[in-house]
Amino acid sequence: MKEEDVLNPEQKKVLENTEGVKMVVSGPGTGKTTTVTYFLSRIIKREKALPEEILAVTFTNKAAEEMKKRVEEMTGERPHVSTIHYFAARILREFPARGYSSDFYIVDDKEQFRLIARMSRELKLDKHPNEVMEKLTLARNLRDRNILLREGLEGFYHQYLAYLREQRSIDFDGLLTWCLDTLEKKPAALRSCQARFKYLLIDEFQDISPLQYVIIRLLAQGWGNLICVGDFDQGIYSFRGADINIMLNLKKDFPRLTTYYLERNYRSTQKIVRAANHLIRHNTRREDKPHWTERKEGEEIKIKSFQDARKEADFISSFIKSEVQRGKSYSDFGVIYRVNTLSQILESTFSGESIPYLVMGGPGYFQRAEVQDVLSFFKLAADHRDANAFNRAALVLARMQGSSFRSLKANGDLMEAARKAKESYIRQLPGIVQDLSSRSSLLEIYRLVLHYTGYLNFLKKDKSSAGEKKVDHVEYLEEVISGFSQKSNCLGDFLDFVEKTGAASPYHDSVKLLTIHSAKGLEFNTVFLAGATENMLPHYRNQSPEEVEEERRLFYVAVTRAQNRLFITCPKVKKQGKGSRQLSSPFIKELGLESDRNPSKDETSIRRGGMVYHQQFGKGEVLEVENNHRGEKEIKVTFPGSGVKKLNLEYAPVETDQ
Ligand SMILES: Nc1ncnc2c1ncn2[C@@H]1O[C@H](COP(=O)(O)OP(=O)(O)OP(=O)(O)O)[C@@H](O)[C@H]1O
Ligand SMILES: [Mg+2]
Repeated sequence: MKEEDVLNPEQKKVLENTEGVKMVVSGPGTGKTTTVTYFLSRIIKREKALPEEILAVTFTNKAAEEMKKRVEEMTGERPHVSTIHYFAARILREFPARGYSSDFYIVDDKEQFRLIARMSRELKLDKHPNEVMEKLTLARNLRDRNILLREGLEGFYHQYLAYLREQRSIDFDGLLTWCLDTLEKKPAALRSCQARFKYLLIDEFQDISPLQYVIIRLLAQGWGNLICVGDFDQGIYSFRGADINIMLNLKKDFPRLTTYYLERNYRSTQKIVRAANHLIRHNTRREDKPHWTERKEGEEIKIKSFQDARKEADFISSFIKSEVQRGKSYSDFGVIYRVNTLSQILESTFSGESIPYLVMGGPGYFQRAEVQDVLSFFKLAADHRDANAFNRAALVLARMQGSSFRSLKANGDLMEAARKAKESYIRQLPGIVQDLSSRSSLLEIYRLVLHYTGYLNFLKKDKSSAGEKKVDHVEYLEEVISGFSQKSNCLGDFLDFVEKTGAASPYHDSVKLLTIHSAKGLEFNTVFLAGATENMLPHYRNQSPEEVEEERRLFYVAVTRAQNRLFITCPKVKKQGKGSRQLSSPFIKELGLESDRNPSKDETSIRRGGMVYHQQFGKGEVLEVENNHRGEKEIKVTFPGSGVKKLNLEYAPVETDQ
């Protein structure tokens, strides 16, 4: 489509002059990514640069693919759009880093973890590999050596770098540090890159780290054409070294910077935009900016609390089902949550209801390595011949001993082979499996696995945020099992349930399940922000004033993914059926909603056959409960003396008769 048919006057203004340094600062859904995409197309169409002379940087590979596709549709050319890491790798293939050739191997996060784990063991480092990885990322992205000195990691880092070099390998952050090193130390490389990239375009600029920024700044000094777009209210990656101040202070480095403000939101309804604005004004480290929409007023944002997470998931799934019956697609729905663990109950509910879903940006709950580790003992208890489960369980025992295990070669009986193994911990395995098999309670099996392996205590030694998440995932399994065991305590049934829930969804049209961090840049017709409790948003580990501001930005990102409908849902108790009560996220109050003045009743306790009390009609029996097309619950009630009435629970003065 032609830009004049699509872009509004402010957006067109950004495109008017393609030269110079520009920054577009604007709220979510105001068309930043759209405008950059048109900007890129315009440069190509007007032949201001060849596609290979443009460097367009997005935050994820998926976003890069999307932008390439759009530009190709508009121009017939396929430009280079990539994450900054892949760009850095490209540069290093052409201008090898010191001590490297262009033929190097990129070490991904998993391999990096294994390597750091091995080196930490050898060097007797008193830190978990995840924590080491986190500190290396911060030190490199913030360009702050003191972090390494403070953590006693300076020596380790040098040995790690030397080893990587010996192996002709570079890790992810290393791509950036080596790229910068090359540009700084090799004038010919810098000159060549500066001459080649006539235009630099950066999306999601608020999440750039100081290291990434210095690379961009150096390159921009060539032709002086840089356009960055972003929203400091959506900066959510400071734990990886991103710094929103770079965006706030860009003018210091580029005094001739032109800043554009797009004010009009095309994505969300008035109600959503108003609530989002109300919320984010509670942050102090920001500059206020106009952000409005001409879209329809829209439906009320629904805040719903449920007895527990199971009821919450039931509501979400039955709502989606009824909407799909009315003609909506599954992909109209996005269910967003703060931490990965929360996907499990949604996944199992969706599986049970045959709703196709896709967990974005990571494995589903049951696919997580730590969860699989524990489950391998369950599988082995159910089937002593399961070789995969055996090897996994044996590896867990080996790791507890600080050893490695390479899988047992056994032609016949695995347990027999294990009894003859030279390692004493492998010899214990048959006994453990025997004990687990003899138990009739799933919870007992779970507790025994942890007792025999000491796995949870092992995980707790990892103080990094990745390690803390693993602990949460394994602890959460107790809740999953306790929920399941209310239906059945049969091990086979439980494993079937796990398999069904974990099966990758091959469907094209699917509900998306994703964390707020992976929801960046995306939009959905209807968003459920699930698990919006006081200890999740803000996350209980992030309680300093700065951290709470970042948590509020996360809430803001989640809210602003919604185009038409937004549900914020919250389970009232932590554990299914029991456990301590929890309040809803304090950020909900900051949305300034009407409903705060008219709190909704606990709809989950209203069910068919139950009794309710109506201010005018008195006591009556519920005949039917259903959602109307706006997602509001409606009930049919028979009142002795007044007959059958249809009531909308959003408005009707009804209370449960308890
Ligand atoms: N001028 C316009 N007219 C109509 N729709 C538009 C216009 N500009 C953008 N849109 C639409 O608005 C939605 C949001 O646009 P886009 O994703 O580019 O916003 P954004 O500012 O990048 O958002 P975020 O901050 O969440 O990344 C998209 O569906 C896009 O197609
Ligand atoms: Mg965007």
